Parts: sequence; C-alpha cells; structure tokens
Amino acid sequence: MAYSEVVNVSGFVGNFKVTVKKKARYVDEKECTACGECVEVCPVTRPDEYQTGFSTRKAINIPFPQAVPASYLINMDDCLGTNPIACGKCADVCEKKCIDFDMQDELVELEVGAVVVATGMDVYDPSEIDEYGYARFPNVITSMEFERLICAGGPTEGHFVRPGDGTRPKRIGFIQCVGSRSAKRGNPYCSNICCMNTVKDTLLLVDHYPDTQCSVFYMDIRAFGKSFEDFYMRSKEEGVRYIRNIPGEIEEDPATGNLRVVVEKTDGQGIEFHDFDMIVLATGVIPRQDSPIIRKLLTLSKTSDGFLMEAHPRLKPVDAPTRGVFMAGCAESPKDIKDSVAQAGAAASHANILLNAGEIAIEAITSTIDIASCNGCELCVDVCPYHAIQSNGKKNAPTIITAACAGCGNCGAACPTGSIEMKHFTDIQIEAQVDAICEENAGEKVVAFACNWCSYAGGDFAGISRLQYPTDARLIRTMCSARIDEEFIWRAFRKGAAMVLVSGCHYADCHYISANRQTVQRVNRIWDKMDRLGIRAERLQLEGISAAEGQKFAKVMRDIKDMREKVTKEEIDETVRILSEEHDKKMKKKAAKEAKKAAGAAA
Ligand code: FES
Repeated sequence: MAYSEVVNVSGFVGNFKVTVKKKARYVDEKECTACGECVEVCPVTRPDEYQTGFSTRKAINIPFPQAVPASYLINMDDCLGTNPIACGKCADVCEKKCIDFDMQDELVELEVGAVVVATGMDVYDPSEIDEYGYARFPNVITSMEFERLICAGGPTEGHFVRPGDGTRPKRIGFIQCVGSRSAKRGNPYCSNICCMNTVKDTLLLVDHYPDTQCSVFYMDIRAFGKSFEDFYMRSKEEGVRYIRNIPGEIEEDPATGNLRVVVEKTDGQGIEFHDFDMIVLATGVIPRQDSPIIRKLLTLSKTSDGFLMEAHPRLKPVDAPTRGVFMAGCAESPKDIKDSVAQAGAAASHANILLNAGEIAIEAITSTIDIASCNGCELCVDVCPYHAIQSNGKKNAPTIITAACAGCGNCGAACPTGSIEMKHFTDIQIEAQVDAICEENAGEKVVAFACNWCSYAGGDFAGISRLQYPTDARLIRTMCSARIDEEFIWRAFRKGAAMVLVSGCHYADCHYISANRQTVQRVNRIWDKMDRLGIRAERLQLEGISAAEGQKFAKVMRDIKDMREKVTKEEIDETVRILSEEHDKKMKKKAAKEAKKAAGAAA
C-alpha cells in the first residue's frame, strides 16, 4: 500500500488490528497512464526532495522514478487547485479524466498476525557544524547529494558537476564521520556505512573521470565486511589519498567557489591546508523522525541512540520485545544493504514461522488476577508496557491477555490490593526469600534484588570471570526490577537488613520495554519516605548493571559492603522499631476496613 501510513495498531500477537490511512492521491491510479500531460501545464514548481533539491518537481508529480504504482499524485500542500478551484489546469488537460480534487483519505482496517517494522532511517543534517559551511558554500555537499549527482537517473544524468557553477570538479575532498562518533555534535555511535560508501564513491569517480584527484580525511577506516578491505586497498591503488585527520574548518574562495580545508597536523606541529574544487561530507545515519510514533503504536522500545531495541541483542536480533513484531534494516540500527537484506529475510522467516504454527507457546511466567479482591483502580493497566491488561471500565477488574503478557511483573508490584500475582514469582515466594535471608544475622547482610536479564547475569559473569567480591549480599532474582514491590523492600528493613540493593538493567535498556522506569519511581518514593521517617536513604541503593558488567557488579558489591559496615546495630534496631510500628498501624487499619466491608455485606 504505497502513499499510506499506519495510524493505529491494537490487539496482540496473532490478532493485530491495523488501521492504515491511504492518503488521497487526487489522481485515479488505475486510470492514469503517466502520460505526463498534466506535468507540462502545472504552474507550481518546488524543489524535488528526491533529487535533494538539485532539480524541481511540479505540484502534480511521481515522487521518484521507481515509484509503485507508476502514476501521478497531487501534493495538496503545493497545489493551487483546491476549493474553490483556482487552477485546475491538470484536470482540463487529462484526457482520461483521472484528476479528482474531491478525493478523500481512506482508512483501511487490516487483521494481521504479525508485523514487520522496516521504516528505515534519516540522514544527519550537517548544517549545525558551522565551520564546514554546508548550505553556505554551494560546493560543499553531503554523501546523499553525491549519490544524486553521480546517478544516471539524477538531475545531471550522471555528469558529475559542481552545484555552484556546473563545472566538473577535479580535486575532491571527502570528510568522514560527519555527525557520527562525536559526543559534542551529531551522535556518539558509528554510522556503519559511511567508510565503505566513501570508498565506493572514490572508485566511481576515478572510474568515470580518471584525472580526478580524491582525498579522504578520516579517523580510522572501518572496512570490516567480506571483501571490504580489498575494496579499500583497490581505492588506494587507484591513487586515492587517505589522510588520517579530521579537518577543523573549510574556507571558500568567493571568486572561484574553490574550497580550502584547514587541518591540524597529527604531530601537533602547526596546521596544513588542502585545496579542493568540491567537498563531500560523509554524513551519518540517524533514527527516523517519526520513529517515536511507530514505537508508540507498537509498544516498542529504543536504545540510547534512538534506534529500535530488539528483544535480545544476541538471541533475538530481529524480534521486537512485543510478541509478533519483528524488525529489519536501519530502523533497528545503521547497517548496509547486505545486512539489511539478511535481516529482512530473517524477519520474514520469523513472521512466517509464527503464522504457520497457528498457535504460540507462551512463557509460563505470566500474571494472573484475582477478580474478587481487585478494586478496579486500573493502575496495572497504566503500567503494563505491553498493553496486555485490558480495562473493563473503572471499578471492574481488568482482563489480562496472557498471550500478550511478557511476565515483567510490573502490574503485580503496582497493584495496591495484592490482587495480581505473577506465576513463579509470587509475593509469598519472594517474601519467603526475604525472611530466610533475614532470619539470622540480618544486620550483616545485604538483601539484593537482581533482574534476570542484566544484573543477575552480570553477577553470573562476575562469577565465571573469577572476580572476587564480598559475600554479604544475598541475591533474590526477579524477571525484571519492575517486579520489586515496595513492600518487599520495607519488609527487608523491618526484618533487620542493614542494606537493600535494587539492581536491574540500565535505565533505557530494560528487557521489558520501559518497565524499569517504574522501578526508579518506586525507589524514589521509598527514598522520600525513608527521609520522612528518619531512616538513612543511603541504606537503599539502586544500580543499573548490564549482563556484560561483571566488573561493575563486583565493584557495587564492594561499595555496598563498605556502606553496610557503617550501619550500626542501634540504627538497625531503630529502623525495625519505626517500621514495625508503622506496619502494625497499617494492618490494624486494613483489618478495620475489611471488618466494616464484611459487616456491610452481611447487612
Ligand atoms: Fe532488567 Fe527490566 S529486565 S530491569
């Protein structure tokens, strides 16, 4: 469905309902023969986005030569001929009467079992790097603009010329990592494709124009793919100069449009200058601007660099955390064509396996709800990152869609009445572990909650790496740190624990989309209350530890031991007294409330 966008997705794996908006083309695509008569008469001219502004298009156009269907559409933001019709020239000239100014957007409902997200990427805009003069100097272009200029289907039919004066450049400089691998401007990550793209560009140039002199300024060339090193060597053999240095500034000679690149020498012995006719900035890849909309529609998560997060970086690289959703290409991370094709094949296969099976096996660890004790507050509906809990209207118990539940346990921790239980990680099971830890010498122990996927695995990694760390911490594993009910922490302190550690994935890296945001909120609430009650808040620690951070896990354990040794017996006794009194009061209040409710029911 071309020229369409997804506006809503509901349901869950195997039963998605997708609403697609088919945008009005204002041209009957079945009748249009793309004769082009309408384009001839259209008076509105705009820069052609596909040709990166190097040529123009009309208000009625085919967005790009390979578009499917190969029929025209009217861009209504540009067209003069809406209501009342001020132009209408295209309609007059169209013999097949394909133009329909009254055409409306159409909403199409689809029922699908799986979804593949392959929404691609955007390109970094280098205008913010003022010293490179992009958009000020016409002969400074981006690698994307280079593609259009060298393309046989491009605005110059493949004749490589300077945008400033239309002459053929002979000295061309390439600057790598523009907007990539920079913490200050652009993005800190490597964009993956720019090095080999530039190597390819230089070979294209020397192939088309053997008298061209190409120079590439780089930090390091990342030629890690199959045959990439050979390709890079070929470029060097063809005479392309590779200069290990990133320029500080580009200056333009206004009379000729020629450019001078200012580079600080790597030995720190002053600066040097390189003169060029044209500069190509190897601009990096960024997540698509509309990526937050897709994330919201499909309840997906993002990594710290803004690309979509996979369910598991090694074991489930094409699965999204939401079951039944797969991803491919640069939506997930910057990658080249070969990797995109491989990932797309894998995503399609995974979707097919799911659909052909006809039924799915779900994890045993899912949540259940006790309808009788639920008060219908719907807090669980709000916190579920998978939208797996369906509201049945306030005051009614919601429904848990087991097929969509991923088992983070966030709902169980949020439920104020204890009506939600998570199979295999029930309140009783976790509280029993807390009690067992605190049974003897609680003041010499640290009750440490660790999420299965990151911090528990980090502890495991510390172990298999033979790292030494103190033994006073007792780990309680939960699937996600969001399972940790505030009451578990209070219970540990009430039972005399000197320290409590809540550890999970790093803030943006939760295995269950955004569940550990709730963990942070819960811990913040507890810290506030500890302050109010006069209990030192440092006795509760919150740490993000990834599965690869065995070293960090060991360090956290050492630090927490130092903190524990500063907690005195008197301090622990006082905490136990305060919290026990508080707990007794709460229990009495609860019992009175229940007695009142029971009396009301009997009456
Ligand atoms: Fe580790 Fe959520 S899975 S914090």
